[in-house]
Order: sequence, then structure tokens, then C-alpha cells
Amino acid sequence: MSKSRVVLLAALSAAVATAIASPVLAQDYKARAWAASCAACHGTNGRSEGEIPALAGKKKEDLLKKLKDAKAGEPKSLTVMHQHAKGYTDEQLERLADYFSKQPK
Ligand code: HEC
Repeated sequence: MSKSRVVLLAALSAAVATAIASPVLAQDYKARAWAASCAACHGTNGRSEGEIPALAGKKKEDLLKKLKDAKAGEPKSLTVMHQHAKGYTDEQLERLADYFSKQPK
């Protein structure tokens, strides 16, 4: 193998290692995995077809507020979300809100 090829390979594997180790991922894969359980009611990636509100493309702050309110049992009119929201930490709720806000409507 030529010397330049070895250098190129070394540079490439360093780039791959950096990409894998990078804490800033283009997509939050963990949040995407959590979001899969929301899809049963809110549609794939939050694009609801039915009466349950869509989540895709809504403002992160609005989604997060609704999730945190739901976790606290508010409003009293909630039918299911108070139960779901309780199952997640605040950090998970924030990452879910972030994930859904970035999905195309
Ligand atoms: C069993 C069905 C079901 C599942 C699963 C579910 N939701 Fe919901 N969600 C609802 C319903 C129904 C509402 C309307 C409020 C209510 O009645 O609780 C709602 C409302 C919401 C709202 C408020 C939306 C708005 O614009 O008013 C958010 C945000 C939300 N859900 C997020 C989530 C997230 C995130 C998950 C997954 C962790 C999830 N939901 C899983 C049924 C579900």
C-alpha cells in the first residue's frame, strides 16, 4: 500500500471515529426510539391522521409545556396523556418535544 493511501485511510478512520463519538448527532436516535411508542396514537413521526392531535412540526416549547403539564396532571380533561407523560423524565420529555418539533408536518 502506498504511503499516501495509508495517510488517507488513517484520516478517514479518524473522521469516522469522531463522527461516532460526537455527542451532537444530526438526529436524536434515542428520542426517535421513544417516539415510536407515541406513533400508535399520534401517527408515524407525529403525523396524525385522526382526531388525536398531530405533534410533527409543532413548536418545541408548546409540546414540552403540554407534556410537563400532563405529567403534573393538568388539565383535568386529559384522557391518556397524564399517564404517558409520567413515564418519562423531564429530560426525556424535552428530547421528545425536540424530536417531534423537527419532524416535517
Ligand atoms: C394511547 C394513545 C396515546 C399515546 C400512546 C400517546 N398519546 Fe399523546 N395524546 C393522546 C391523546 C388522546 C391526546 C389528547 C389529550 C388527552 O386526552 O390526553 C394527546 C395529547 C398529546 C400532546 C398535546 C398535543 C396538543 O397539541 O395539544 C402531546 C404533546 C402528546 N400527546 C405527546 C405524546 C408523546 C410525546 C407520546 C409518547 C411518549 C404520546 N403523546 C403518546 C394519546 C396518546
